[in-house]
Amino acid sequence: MTSRLPGFHRLTLNERVQQIAVLRLLSAEEILALRSDSGLGNSRADLMVENAVGTVSLPIGIATNFLINGQDYLVPMAIEEPSVVAAASNVAKLVRGVGGFQAEPSSRLMIGQIQITHCTDPSAVRSKILSHREELLHVANQSQAKMVARGGGAREIDVRVLETDDIGRDKKGMLVVQVTIDTRNAMGANVIDTMMETLAPRIAKISGCTINLSILSNYTDQCLASAQCQIPISLLGTPHMSGEEVGHRIVDAYRFAELDLYRAVTHNKGIMNGIDAVALATGNDWRAIEAAAHAYAAREGLYRPLSRWEFDGKMLKGFLTLPLAAGIVGGAININPTSGVALKILGVSEAQELTMIMVSVGLAQNLGALRSLVTDGLQKGHMALHARARSAFR
Ligand code: MEV
Repeated sequence: MTSRLPGFHRLTLNERVQQIAVLRLLSAEEILALRSDSGLGNSRADLMVENAVGTVSLPIGIATNFLINGQDYLVPMAIEEPSVVAAASNVAKLVRGVGGFQAEPSSRLMIGQIQITHCTDPSAVRSKILSHREELLHVANQSQAKMVARGGGAREIDVRVLETDDIGRDKKGMLVVQVTIDTRNAMGANVIDTMMETLAPRIAKISGCTINLSILSNYTDQCLASAQCQIPISLLGTPHMSGEEVGHRIVDAYRFAELDLYRAVTHNKGIMNGIDAVALATGNDWRAIEAAAHAYAAREGLYRPLSRWEFDGKMLKGFLTLPLAAGIVGGAININPTSGVALKILGVSEAQELTMIMVSVGLAQNLGALRSLVTDGLQKGHMALHARARSAFR
C-alpha cells in the first residue's frame, strides 16, 4: 500500500472514505463508525462517563504521504484546526522524496508510585522494602496475570526518600515506592493503578507507615520516541525564497524557541497539534501525552523546544524526541469503534509502531509550521480554509 494519494484532497468526503475503505479493507460497519452520527453513539457514551448527555464530534482527516522507516502510513488525525492535516501531508510528501522519516521507539516501561508518609526512619524503611523486592514484584504481577502472559509486568522496584522539595521545604518522613512496569501494547493506566493498589497494603505492613496514595506517573520518560528527517535545499525553496534562505530561517526560528519561553511553548504546541490529533483519533489519553511532553521539555530545569533543527548550507536536518505512552489496546480504544477504525487505517500492530508514527507526525507538523512562518506566514493558507468553512455555513 502507498500513502501517496494524488488528488485525494480534491475528492468528496464520501469518495475519500471509499478510497480508504478499499485501501485498508474496511467493512461496512467500520465505514459507518467513521460517521459522526454512528461512531461512539449515545449508548456507548453513557457507559463511558457519568451523567452523559451526548457526544462531541471532530473532523477526522487523513494525512497522506507518510513514509516512516521505509513503510507507508495513512494517518488519521482528529482536529478542529484547519491546515494541520494539509501541513502534515505536504511535509510528508517532501520528506518521502528523500527517504522518509527515520523513527525509533524506546522501551514500553512506565512507572507506578506509592506515597508513604509519617515515617520516622525513612532510610531504614527504604532498606526494609527493598529487601522484599522479589516478593513485591511477585504480588504486583499476580494481580495482572494477562499482562504477564503477554510478556509484560512489573520489572523493578525502587524506593526514594523525599526529604526536601524543589524549593527546599522540609518533607521529612516521606518516601515513594516506584515500580517500573512493562505495559506492552496498552497505555497501561488501569494496569498500573491496579498493581499499585494491590501492593499498597503489603507495603503498609512492611513499612509500618501510612500509605497516602497509589497511582501511575504520567511522566513516562522511559517511553521516549524519536524521529528525524533531512531535506536538501533543492526541496526547501518557495517561489519567493531560495532553499538556502529557508534553511537558515528555519534554524533561526528554532533558535528563537531555544532562547525564549514564550516562543518555545508555541513551537511545542505546533508539534503537539499533530501528536494530539493522532492520539485523539486512536482513542489515546492526550492529556497524559501532553503532560509528559511539557514536563520532558522542562527536564533540564528550563522549558525548551522539543525538536532540534540543523542546517549545514545543503541539508536541513530535524530531530524530535518526546515521551509517548500511547497504546493500541485498552481503555477508550476498545469501546469507541472509531478509534478501532483509525488504528486499522494506520495498520499498526504494536504500540511502539504507533508511537513512531506519532513522533514523525509531530516533526512534520513542526517543520510545516516553521516553513510557513518564515516564508509566506501562516494566515494566508489558514484564513483561506477558515473562510471556506464560514462561507459554507453562513
Ligand atoms: C498553530 O496551531 C501552531 C503554530 O503556532 C506553531 C508554531 O508557531 O510553531 C503555527
